Amino acid sequence: MSNLFRKKSLKELMQDHVVGEVSGEHTLKRTLTATSLIFLGIGAIIGAGLFVRTAAAAANNAGPSVTLAFMVAGIGCALAGLCYAEFASMIPIAGSAYTYSYATMGELVAWIIGWDLVLEYALGAACVGIAWSEYLNKLLAYMGMNIPYEWCHSPFEASAAGVHGLMNAPALFIILMLSLLLIKGTKESALVNGFIVLSKVAIVVLFIVFGWSYINPANHIPYIPEATTYVDMQGVPHNFGGIMGILAAAGVVFFAFIGFDAVSTAAQESINPKKDMPIGILGSLAICTVLYILFAHVLTGIATTEDFRHAGREASVTFAIQTYMHDYQWLAKLVTVAILAGFSSVILVMLLGQSRVFYSMSKDGLLPKVFSELHPTYHTPYKSNLILFVFVGLFAAFVPGDIVGDMTSIGTLFAFILVCAGVIIMRKTDPDAVRGFKTPLVPLVPILGMLVCGAMVFGLGLPNWIRLLVWLLIGFVIYFGYSQKNSKLNK
Ligand code: ALA
Repeated sequence: MSNLFRKKSLKELMQDHVVGEVSGEHTLKRTLTATSLIFLGIGAIIGAGLFVRTAAAAANNAGPSVTLAFMVAGIGCALAGLCYAEFASMIPIAGSAYTYSYATMGELVAWIIGWDLVLEYALGAACVGIAWSEYLNKLLAYMGMNIPYEWCHSPFEASAAGVHGLMNAPALFIILMLSLLLIKGTKESALVNGFIVLSKVAIVVLFIVFGWSYINPANHIPYIPEATTYVDMQGVPHNFGGIMGILAAAGVVFFAFIGFDAVSTAAQESINPKKDMPIGILGSLAICTVLYILFAHVLTGIATTEDFRHAGREASVTFAIQTYMHDYQWLAKLVTVAILAGFSSVILVMLLGQSRVFYSMSKDGLLPKVFSELHPTYHTPYKSNLILFVFVGLFAAFVPGDIVGDMTSIGTLFAFILVCAGVIIMRKTDPDAVRGFKTPLVPLVPILGMLVCGAMVFGLGLPNWIRLLVWLLIGFVIYFGYSQKNSKLNK
């Protein structure tokens, strides 16, 4: 029984960290000022959540009140982010929630978090890949081409004309390309990263500024639709309108904030974590939350909820500009290209994060060795990248974006709740450990974090709870069947 709570020592952590550096695992070079932390955060944050999931949340759950959903999700992230920062600053190396929890809360919790992070990173990458496919189709349309419906949709989707999807080939393609890039070893240069971050922010700002005058006030009435059930084109029922609609939408658009935890992994690389971590985490969150709310306000003002249910369901931003902002066709093209580039960088960060977590878990013996075997020339965990490609690719090719996105949200929310709980527990069990950054107002902030994230989990509804439960059960089977016996801590 005590086995379940055995912890990895700091010394072991440091040794593994050195191996990780040599292997080129930690390829994302991070500078140390608050500004660069904010940059890092925004780079990982803005993606499919904003450019695809916003319209889905408006269509299925909240109409214009998707803006309020962004507020709820932003508050939940801020609270959890403050906890993440303390957790991260206790262990003097860069890493993920998995690494921190192994040293602080023991093996079982670390396993649960690591297993859960697969939902965040691997399924997150799949969801952004599916979103990439939508915008690629828009780009091709500009060149007079298009991919037939069946080859860019999952078998669980059908068009209004009754055509069934077979597989999402473009989503599979982009995941393959980026997996190969990771195998070769990417040193995403600060310059390229900075350029992509700036272009992402630029198109969001341009859309808000130019789109504002195209808002049709009628589209915002009523701002919070009356509570009903909306059954979508695939026959899936959703809570629409009222408080439940806003909570469900918050769970959906929560996806748009995923990635800010990347800031906390740089805790030890920050010169002044006490001051810069909260600025980095809260700063990138605050900027994104404001941009998101304004963006969602404009988007739901330009196009109608009905649009987002039908013609504007996919690549909604390009659709809204093309359909309603006739003087801005150049913007539609620019947005489409920038979104495709921006999505690629988010997928890359997610795939990298996933292989990094699996690398650590494999080094710890919790997963088979194959996940940490390095390529002789490239020094990357190439076998892990290939296996992940198959796993992520299966979801990207054969599962609808709605489902993959919501599974990503619920998995990440669950990890956040564990991290919030972890801060309270650690204050009791290790009161004297050095903390570069301390979460303010413990236990109030972690408790509120758990409540707000819990409310979003609640909003995501029964099918997603079941999916999370099944995922965790599979994880337990692997843990008790393999990982516990093979853990390095046995030796
Ligand atoms: N927050 C990232 C996105 O929206 C995952 O694409």
